[in-house]
Amino acid sequence: MLSSNFSHIVFDSNKMRLLLLDQRYLPEKEDFFVCDSVENVIEALKTMVVRGAPAIGVTAGFACVLAVKELLSLPSTSWEKHLREQFSRIAHARPTAVNLQWAVSRMEQCLSKQTLLDPKELLQICLAEAKRMQEEDCQICRQIGRNGAALIHDHDTVLTHCNAGALATAGYGTALGVIRAAFEEGKRIHVIADETRPFLQGARLTAWELQRDGIPVTVACDNACALLMQQGRIQCVVVGADRIAANGDTANKIGTFGVALLAKHFQIPFFIAAPLSTIDRSLSSGSLIPIEERPSSEVISFGSRPVVPSGVPVFNFAFDVTPNALISGIITEKGVLRSPYTKTIQDAVTS
Ligand code: MRU
Repeated sequence: MLSSNFSHIVFDSNKMRLLLLDQRYLPEKEDFFVCDSVENVIEALKTMVVRGAPAIGVTAGFACVLAVKELLSLPSTSWEKHLREQFSRIAHARPTAVNLQWAVSRMEQCLSKQTLLDPKELLQICLAEAKRMQEEDCQICRQIGRNGAALIHDHDTVLTHCNAGALATAGYGTALGVIRAAFEEGKRIHVIADETRPFLQGARLTAWELQRDGIPVTVACDNACALLMQQGRIQCVVVGADRIAANGDTANKIGTFGVALLAKHFQIPFFIAAPLSTIDRSLSSGSLIPIEERPSSEVISFGSRPVVPSGVPVFNFAFDVTPNALISGIITEKGVLRSPYTKTIQDAVTS
């Protein structure tokens, strides 16, 4: 299983550098992108060498380790400023997923407890914390999988959008964690992976992961969703999340909202699978979630071929927000939360 013996975020403690499986080139080739500095990690985050909310959170933790490593070559008078600036750059490398800010603030808290002034010791403390976050994310995904598996029935076909799998987390996945757990329980399921224009996370990454695990998967163009639901081919939808507001409104990959509207129309259950760390209770509703706009270059060509006439402007919003009324349940490590979400979310986060 990809989930248990495969790691796409690897910290090399000997050379003090971070290795990231370069997701831009899957499924064509499996190359690792090497990060020796915070600058390298920020480039990796922005260009989507690594992507997916929990995965970028874990990566941010290791980026903070590299920020501490950089202190070794700086005078002690500039340490505080350097860490403050680098941590802020890491937290804001991408705006929608809350996991970057969540991970950086956890590393800040870890550092704030230290009275040590030796950066070599701080480095080891930070590295241990980043590794803990990585390990915890794997455990949380397993628990999300166990909690959600009962929602998928024998012979179901499950639609998922984007990639909320091992590649989008530290391992196992959130939405794909639920699918993996149902499959491991012996349920005969089939997955439809939306291709997910323009970065093709569904076609390139979800299909790659599921094929490696022997889970039957078919890729469909994003705009086939209505037809597939009308034909009765889909029994359940499970997707991930980048940020969930206090009322349950959920930001996820662009196109998710449309899938949720269609699921409502065809009375198909629509589930979000996400760790509690993806919930941002400082935002009362989804309208406050910042939506990332990515470069038009991702849309105007397909492979090396231009597909939009030169000079025509394009929209490239990376996420949309699904209103809570369209969500049948939010599968977390603490169980499946149901409407009214403001209450169930508060209970889950504070219990
Ligand atoms: O732009 P991406 O590829 O980072 O977007 C990823 C998604 O939208 C995922 O569905 C989400 O992060 C959940 S990952 C477990």
